[in-house]
Amino acid sequence: MSETFYITTPIYYVNGRPHIGHAYTTIAADAICRYRRDKGHRVYFLTGTDEHGQKVYETAVKRGMEPKAHCDDMVVHWKATFAKLDIQYDRFFRTTDADHIANVSAVLSMLHERGEIYQQDYTGWYHVGDEIFVTEKDIEDGKYDKADLKEISESNYWFKMGSYGDKLRQHLEDNPGFIQPTSRLNEVKGFLKNTLGDLCISRPKARMPWGIPLPFDEEYVTYVWFDALLNYLTATGYHPDADKQNPPEGFNSYEELWPANFHLVGKDILTTHAVYWSTMLFGMGVPPVQCLYAHGWWTSKDGAKMSKSKGNAIDIDLLIAQDSYGVDATRYFFLREIGFGSDGGFSYDGFQTRYNADLANDLGNLAHRGLSMTTNWLGGKVPALGSIGPEEQNLREVAARAFATFDSEIEQLHFNKALEGLWELVKAGNKYIDTTQPWALNKAGKTEELQTVMRHVLEICFVASALLRCVTPAKADDLLGKLSVTTDQRSAWLKSALAGDVQWLSALNSGDSITLGDPLFPRHKKHPPAIADLFAAEEAAKPAKKPKKAKKPAPPTPDDAIVYDEFAKVRLRVGHIKASAKHDNADKLLVLQVDCGEGRTRQICAGIAGKFSPEELVGRKVVVVANLAPRKIRGEWSEGMLLAAGEKEVVDLLSVDAEPGEVVR
Ligand code: MSP
Repeated sequence: MSETFYITTPIYYVNGRPHIGHAYTTIAADAICRYRRDKGHRVYFLTGTDEHGQKVYETAVKRGMEPKAHCDDMVVHWKATFAKLDIQYDRFFRTTDADHIANVSAVLSMLHERGEIYQQDYTGWYHVGDEIFVTEKDIEDGKYDKADLKEISESNYWFKMGSYGDKLRQHLEDNPGFIQPTSRLNEVKGFLKNTLGDLCISRPKARMPWGIPLPFDEEYVTYVWFDALLNYLTATGYHPDADKQNPPEGFNSYEELWPANFHLVGKDILTTHAVYWSTMLFGMGVPPVQCLYAHGWWTSKDGAKMSKSKGNAIDIDLLIAQDSYGVDATRYFFLREIGFGSDGGFSYDGFQTRYNADLANDLGNLAHRGLSMTTNWLGGKVPALGSIGPEEQNLREVAARAFATFDSEIEQLHFNKALEGLWELVKAGNKYIDTTQPWALNKAGKTEELQTVMRHVLEICFVASALLRCVTPAKADDLLGKLSVTTDQRSAWLKSALAGDVQWLSALNSGDSITLGDPLFPRHKKHPPAIADLFAAEEAAKPAKKPKKAKKPAPPTPDDAIVYDEFAKVRLRVGHIKASAKHDNADKLLVLQVDCGEGRTRQICAGIAGKFSPEELVGRKVVVVANLAPRKIRGEWSEGMLLAAGEKEVVDLLSVDAEPGEVVR
């Protein structure tokens, strides 16, 4: 029997519509599933919606709707967006589905009977948004702010999660690939360095009635995460009572699907999956998932996670609309732009750059050149391979390498590296055209050489589209159709290529008709209409800018101008003249004793004897330049200067009515 591949996305809260963060995980899961299906594997792809809990309840109340009616209404948008994104899921899971409610109830009863669940009074800090009791350590570590928490005292049911701490630590040691990427594994190991507490798995109905009732106490509903995490197992047909298993069509037992190959989650929900979910499974006696892969976030320009609550999320429906970049370009962008474990800043300009470079210039151009030259000069038929020279031999090696890289990287969910590897071939194809110059071969009537070149270009288009079916399904099928390749032909080729059993770049049938058609990815010099309209609407919504005042011309700068810093060096202070006498050696000078508020008097020689008698100055408060270096003037020390008016002859001294020592500015 062929290999089975089971992959899940998180189930999304139905308190809003999908945005690019949700689309991202789902596109990634869809791409690997399509590739596995192409490989002939038995694939089960699960996605869906998380419909219980406080957030959904509060949104329903705000809308004035019954919670279930609200979910039914919202789920339509999720399914519609996933359909537009070409997502081929096997089941769209809803936690309000009857089989899930029955399974959660059965698991709870089993764990309760086994003594894995107990009741206890508890007083603790509760975060309403995240719907969890927060520990003092979380607050100390700054993960939560007390202002956002409510202190709650209530009796609840608890799962003995703490008793599985050691088992989980050991599981991480024994299974290094269990959590990926490694940075996330280290995060979980760090978390487990602390003692693992028990998990509160109930909410009193009196506080929050929207959830699956506890089978052993009708006053309570199940905590939303305990309910939601079980979706992955419910979908396999698992039931604690083996006779009641109900696997999906085509499967005979839940164990054909479990443990799932991958749970894809965002890094914000790593702990709930790595710790809550794994220990829940330990409690049930069921093994954990094979690989929990936590990807990064799409962020806005300022590095903040895009989310509905922050209002900074990009509308996925807008990106994929027909008058926008479209579904396939969007799928390609998300998988190519960043590594699956890393964060990435989203911008429409970044999108356009990637689109134009990879899709319009590289792949689109290669396809258009190959198809148009073959149409124009070789009658629109796949030409014969002709003789293989060193250039063609090199291309075959590049093709083999690109294929091997694509296959091994995509299997590890390194989508960007897989595409990067494939692009080595696409770029080599364009370079091959540039160096062989088919237009010159055509002009010179070198038909056989022209045929070899065009055949190789078309062969590269084939390999690219055969592999790209999982990322850009519609455009890849479009290109395969233009090359006259049937689905069976492509599947047979893929299987042979995987088995190492192909002659590279010789898959097409000579003589088959090709079709030129429209360009695959037309270049966008400007953003397409939907995005341009969005920018225009955003611009219009901005408050009108104040008209700018006409600039006044700058005043003239004096020839001997100084800058402020130079002036600021001068310390001016109020000085009180206490005594005054004529200078013994200079008629124009008076020798003054001035109190500058320093607890002593300074001696200052001033050239003001022509204007003032010594007596009339005593008692005046004047302005002193206080930080002038002392110097001797005609044998007398002078520690400063007085400010006076008059250029050649002194007209007056500057006087102020302030205390000695006061700063003058
Ligand atoms: N309902 C829970 C999951 C329960 S799974 C048993 C939940 N739902 S959610 O709708 O809030 O988020 C679902 C997923 O979307 C998470 O994996 C989250 O990381 C992802 N993203 C939400 N915003 C995101 C970005 N801006 N970027 C990438 N993914 C992000 O959590």
